[in-house]
Parts: sequence; C-alpha cells; structure tokens
Amino acid sequence: MTASTNPSSPANPSIQPTYDVTRSYDENYDDGPFWSGAFPQPPAGKPQYRFLDFPVYSPVGVPAGPLLNARWIETYARLGFDLPVYKTVRSLERACHPTPNCLFLKDVGTLTPERLHERLVATPESPAAVADISITNSFGMPSKQPETWQADMERARAAMGPGQVFIASCVGTPGTGTGIAGLADDFARTATMAKEAGAQVVEINLSCPNVTSGEGSIYTDPEASARIVRETARALGDTPLMVKVGFYGRPEKLAGVVRAVAPHVRGVAGINTLSFEVVDERGQQALPGEGRLRSGVCGAAIRECGLSQARDLVALKRREKYDFATVGVGGIMTPADIDAYLATGVDAVMSATGAMWDPSLAHAWRTLHNIN
Ligand SMILES: Cc1cc2nc3c(=O)[nH]c(=O)nc-3n(C[C@H](O)[C@H](O)[C@H](O)COP(=O)(O)O)c2cc1C
Repeated sequence: MTASTNPSSPANPSIQPTYDVTRSYDENYDDGPFWSGAFPQPPAGKPQYRFLDFPVYSPVGVPAGPLLNARWIETYARLGFDLPVYKTVRSLERACHPTPNCLFLKDVGTLTPERLHERLVATPESPAAVADISITNSFGMPSKQPETWQADMERARAAMGPGQVFIASCVGTPGTGTGIAGLADDFARTATMAKEAGAQVVEINLSCPNVTSGEGSIYTDPEASARIVRETARALGDTPLMVKVGFYGRPEKLAGVVRAVAPHVRGVAGINTLSFEVVDERGQQALPGEGRLRSGVCGAAIRECGLSQARDLVALKRREKYDFATVGVGGIMTPADIDAYLATGVDAVMSATGAMWDPSLAHAWRTLHNIN
C-alpha cells in the first residue's frame, strides 16, 4: 500500500483523492492508491445486512472502475466499502487510452435526459467540495492478460474481511469470435476465469459496443443482452451473475431489457457513465486522440438520472415480482446520497467518483448508522 498523498490534491487540502488524475493509468496501477491514514476498526458485531446470499456489514461498495487491482481492493475494503468491484477485465490484454483519463467538468449542474445533446466543458480545476465534483472519464477498459489479473484477483479475494464480498467485473471483446455468438462466448469465458480466480459474484458490463447492429450499446438491445447473459450464467453455474447497465431515460426501455435478462441474473446494477461530447474552455476536444470527443460523464451531475433509474428498477421489480438484487450507482458523493438511494428500495449502492475523492465515505455512512 502506498503511504503517500496524492500531489494532485486540489486547492482544498481536506480533499485527498486516491487516484492521481495527472498521472497515467499504469502509474496509478503500479503506485496507487495514493492514500495515507489510519484505517477504521472493522465493526465488532455481526453483519446486519445481506447482499444476495452474503452477510455484509453495509450495503455500500465501489462499482467497477476506481479499484484497479488487489492493492486498491484491499485499501477500499479496509476503509469500509463492503462491496468492492474489481475494475472490468477482458480475455486479452488491452492498453489504456492516453493520459489524461479524467477531467473535471465546469459548472455542469444537474444532467437530465433533455440535456444529452449538449457539449460539456472540462477544466483541470477541481471544485472545492467533493459534493460538487463531476468528471468525464475515458480509459477504454484496459486489461492485463488473464494470467496476470487472475493471480491478482486471488490476492484481492484473500484481502476481504468478514461481512464483505469480492465482486469482479468482466466484459467481452468484439472480434474475439464472430458476431453476437462469438461475443457471448467471450463474455462467458472471461466470467469463468474471474470465478476461478475467486470472484464471489461476477458482474458483466453491458455498456459496450453492439457488434450486431454496429451502433449503440449492448445494454439497450434486449436480444443481444439476453444472449450474453444466458451464456454467461450457464458458464458460471452457481456463482451469482450481475449485469451492469447504463441509463435508459425511459422506463419502458429499461423494462424491455430487464424482462429479457431477468431469468438469468441475480443482480442488476446501474447506471454507468452518461455519454457526452466534452470540450475545453476554448471549445476544442478536451481529451486527446481519435474517437475521444465523446466520453463518459459521472459524479454529482448524474445523480438525478441514477436515482430516477433506481426508482424505475425497484418499481419494475415489485410489479413483475423479480427476485434479483438491485444496485444503485451514479453520483453518490455523500452519506446523504447513500441514504437517498437506499430510500428508493435498492438493495445496495456503489460510489465511484465519490469514493475516489472521499475515501472516508463508507466509514462516514457506517458511523452515522452506528455500524461500529
Ligand atoms: C475512473 C473510472 C473508471 C471506470 N471504469 C469502469 C469500468 O471499467 N467498468 C464499468 O462497468 N464502469 C466503469 N466506470 C463507471 C462506474 O462504475 C459508474 O458506473 C459511474 O462512474 C457512475 O458512478 P459515479 O457517479 O459514482 O462515478 C468507471 C468510472 C470511473 C470514475
């Protein structure tokens, strides 16, 4: 574990991000997390919550993304994030997009479905309060080769304490086989490798390009999603499978895909980042390189979208009597945001941007709820 603070800490010295956005992904992988401080004591009593079949101290985790490897998983587990997800891996090695991979967004406010066509403005300057941080991120889902991440996942699993669950995120890679059948095979193969490496739950990221239609993401296509989920669930056997979906904007679109995947999944998580065009303050493409005018937006600005989809998902689950677990993600920056999500009826919540800039978030929530 790296006992140094992050030199990219913004003007407000009380904000200590664990991921250094001024360094490359590989440097963060090799040298992070950039955090030094005392770990809180693990709770003394028995875990009072459940997630799927597992007892957990809290229904709070970090979704796929910020936790790059076993050192990151261990640090966040010890900080009290009881549902840590290992960043999405592939069946083959894939380099990361060039640095920078994260930029702050300037005065972005609250994003709504009506604003999806807007161009957002990036800035290197961090807001002074964690609650106001929104970023764009673009990594391209890099991956080590499977032998490397499997050995590392074994270490991550071994670092879990009582009342915690180790979750691994996987994605299929277009081109590893032919069409949707080939992609589904690759999802299933990657998920099986994660299970063999010790994942207690496997999540698959359906926010990836649709190889069948050539446009849009898999999560908006009920047939492609069902095919992938069916193959992957079959390969995983009794290891629970969760799907991670993006923002639908319309409850009936969410319902169509959930109906198609519900027979095969034990959990539905969302939302992923929202896709926007992002420019710098002079109006030029903000992130360098081809295909990077559009990138994923996350943090405070997407909370209303995440909360509305959480409400829709819970209502749908109750109406259709589905028995999968629900996980709310998107814009959780403070303990109050965690409570707002849990009030929708989701079974668990996860924070990515919030947890990167405030690693004490889970412990603060536990303290407020007397879990100690
Ligand atoms: C640095 C970073 C990397 C991410 N990488 C992934 C990823 O590999 N797979 C994935 O499914 N989602 C990824 N995400 C999306 C998050 O899991 C989450 O859905 C999104 O950031 C919204 O949550 P937030 O507002 O709490 O950040 C990433 C997010 C961030 C901030």
